[in-house]
Amino acid sequence: MLNITGTALVLWLHVLAACIWIGGQVTIAILIPILRGEGQLARITGRRYQTIAWPAFGVLVVTGIINVGNTGIAWRHLLDTDPGRTLAVKLGLVAVSGLAAGVHAFLQAPRRDAAIVGRPWAAALLGSVSLLAAVLAALYGVAIANV
Ligand code: HEM
Repeated sequence: MLNITGTALVLWLHVLAACIWIGGQVTIAILIPILRGEGQLARITGRRYQTIAWPAFGVLVVTGIINVGNTGIAWRHLLDTDPGRTLAVKLGLVAVSGLAAGVHAFLQAPRRDAAIVGRPWAAALLGSVSLLAAVLAALYGVAIANV
């Protein structure tokens, strides 16, 4: 029987948080179009998701930083080694994912609620960008874990 090490626990938390961030976005993308037109349901569901999404994103960042230490990638070699460059691309994707989700959750969606007249395409675009970037960030994470 293998031991559950601290490194394994941190990676486990990282993967669980990725499941919540990515899986939640997929679920929301399926549900919201159905819930639109059902009074406040779409808005309430979106807000509920935020309460678990942002803590999960925080866990991804914290455990991700610990993962970097555990993999032995030195921050100062971010651009001059293959694992470092892979991590740099991954971090760019994480930034895009967080930024797109943040603009949607904190700027675009509240304004849309206030205006009543919505622009669902803006939410769909920001949500898609965030999801795609997160999925690719996961792929680069797997690439690093497989070195
Ligand atoms: C949207 C955010 C993120 C997602 C979806 C994500 C997802 C993943 C996934 C799925 C893995 C593969 C785990 C495995 O194959 O065992 C991974 C590994 C990794 N992630 Fe992330 N991650 C995110 C954010 C971050 C951040 C912010 C950092 C660094 C600050 C980071 C650093 C790493 C490292 C270094 C590994 C390799 C771990 C190892 O080899 O032990 N991740 N990530």
